[in-house]
Order: sequence, then C-alpha cells, then structure tokens
Amino acid sequence: MEVIASPLEMQQTALGLRQAGKRIGLVPTMGFLHEGHLSLVRLARAQSDIVILSIFVNPTQFGPNEDFKEYPHDFERDRALCAAAGVDIIFNPSLEAMYPAIAPSVAQRAMDGGQGTMADKMAGRPAGYAVYLEPGDLAHGLCGAARPGHFRGVLTVVAKLFNLTMPTVAVFGQKDAQQLRLIEQMVRDLNFPIAIVRAPIVRESDGLAKSSRNTYLSPAERRESLCLMQALKTARNLYRKGERAAPRIIEAMQALIESVASAHVDYVAIVDADTLEPVPRLEAPALVALAVYIGKTRLIDNLTLPDDGASNLPE
Ligand code: PAF
Repeated sequence: MEVIASPLEMQQTALGLRQAGKRIGLVPTMGFLHEGHLSLVRLARAQSDIVILSIFVNPTQFGPNEDFKEYPHDFERDRALCAAAGVDIIFNPSLEAMYPAIAPSVAQRAMDGGQGTMADKMAGRPAGYAVYLEPGDLAHGLCGAARPGHFRGVLTVVAKLFNLTMPTVAVFGQKDAQQLRLIEQMVRDLNFPIAIVRAPIVRESDGLAKSSRNTYLSPAERRESLCLMQALKTARNLYRKGERAAPRIIEAMQALIESVASAHVDYVAIVDADTLEPVPRLEAPALVALAVYIGKTRLIDNLTLPDDGASNLPE
C-alpha cells in the first residue's frame, strides 16, 4: 500500500494507472475510519483494479462554530485499517496543498470561531484559492439549511478529489443522503466520467448508525443516541400501518426524540427521495431524514420509505 501526500504526485499516479487501463475506485473520507468506511472500500474493490482512499478533513465544509478543530484523527490507525482492507493507495494531502494561499485563513477561521485574523483581513484574498461550486436547490433544505456553506465546501473538495484521483467509480455512504444526491447531481451537471456507487448505512449492533462523531458521545449520551434510529423505526411502523401523512409521522418522531434528556431536534423531515423537496404525503419513495443534537454532538440518520433496505434499520 502506498501513501501519497502530494496532489501533483497523486494526479500523475492516477493518470498513469488510467493510461495503463486500470479502473480506479475512490473512497473519499475525512479519516478516523470505521466499519462504514471499510464497507465502502469493499464496494470500490468489487468494481475496480485500484482502490484509492482519501483522508482529508476539509475545512471549507465546516461552519465557524463547528467541530473542524476537534474532528478525530489517527493516521496510523487509519493506515492499518486500510492495509487490512486491501486499499492500494491512501491519498493524504495537507491543508496547504489542497487550498494553497488561503490555507492559513480557512483553518484559522474554523479554529477561532469565525473572528478571522489580522493577516486574514489584510490578505484580501489575493492570488490564492478562490473557486467554489454552487450546489443549487438540492442543498436548500435538511443539512444545507442547518449548515450554510457546507455543501459548497463538500462539492468543491469532492470535485478536486475527482480531478486528482481520476476514479472510474466513487463510493459514498447513504447516511449522508443529501450529500450523495448532490454529488450525483454534480457528476451529471458537470459531466464527470465517474459512476457514483451508493453504499448502505452500516450500524452498531444496537442500531446506532456508524459515524466518526460517535466518539464524542459520553456513555449516557451513547445510550440516548439510539433515539435517532428509534424515531426512524416509529416512522417505518406508522408507514406499515398505512399512515401516509408526513406531518403525523414527523410529529410522532419529534415526540419520541424530545422525550430523551440529552436530545435536541435540529430537523426531522420527510422529502421526495429524488428532489429532496418536502412532501405532504408519502406516495412516491420518500426520504425520512433527521439531525439531532445529543448533547453537543450533531448526529444524522435516514430511511427511505417504502424501505429499500439501504438504511439497514433493525426490526
Ligand atoms: O462524507 C464525508 O466524509 C465528507 O463529506 C467527504 C465526502 C469526504 C468530503 O469531505
């Protein structure tokens, strides 16, 4: 297994592999890998000759008061997991290499709570990094409403990773359902010659969706975090009993979550699975999505109804 830090070296390596006729599978991550990521590696492996896993905590997708600074990392642990999972190349670029001249200010802004530094103010954005992708309507609701600028940062870094690793397929987890829809739209709109593979949600044995952020939870919060998947089960049970009115399902989900001491609803929404527009009734495939603060930790989860199995929600 190779570890590449330089974007230029990554791109030259990828170009060489593509010229040699290799199919490249990309698994983009922010590191601190768990079984969810490894399931993405297996899907990439099945469809490509070379699997590249990128590790980059992307500052441009974090808001000023979010957890960029705290985001967990352990490169040696990630490296061992990748080697065991059969990853061929880890692409592990530095912040400075990915966002040249703005790197200090972006990192600083994420770390100093949005105040900006003097150097930042004086810099006036000269010749450095300047171009971002505009996500459009799919980013307006759900996490896009709660985290302004988040998907602009996600699409920008994913486009950069695509250009640097030249994948034939790229695998993304369905836990980030809105991210996945946006990436599918970006690939279509910008004509990236890349097949996007959707990977089912991977859960802990008690049903909590795997996330690197689960490590933030105290033991009590960890127990209470089960309310996310319990709320989704409530939605599925009501749906199975014939309920189709979205407001009634949302109300029942919210009541369940609000009964949990450390939980605070960010959003509970039922949207068209394709357009992500809110729907009054669950007639066509609908995405039931929620974001909940457990203490200070924001967790997300989702389920498609009728249940297509991708959520792996326990009975
Ligand atoms: O889903 C994630 O971990 C990130 O949003 C991604 C796709 C790696 C982009 O930074």
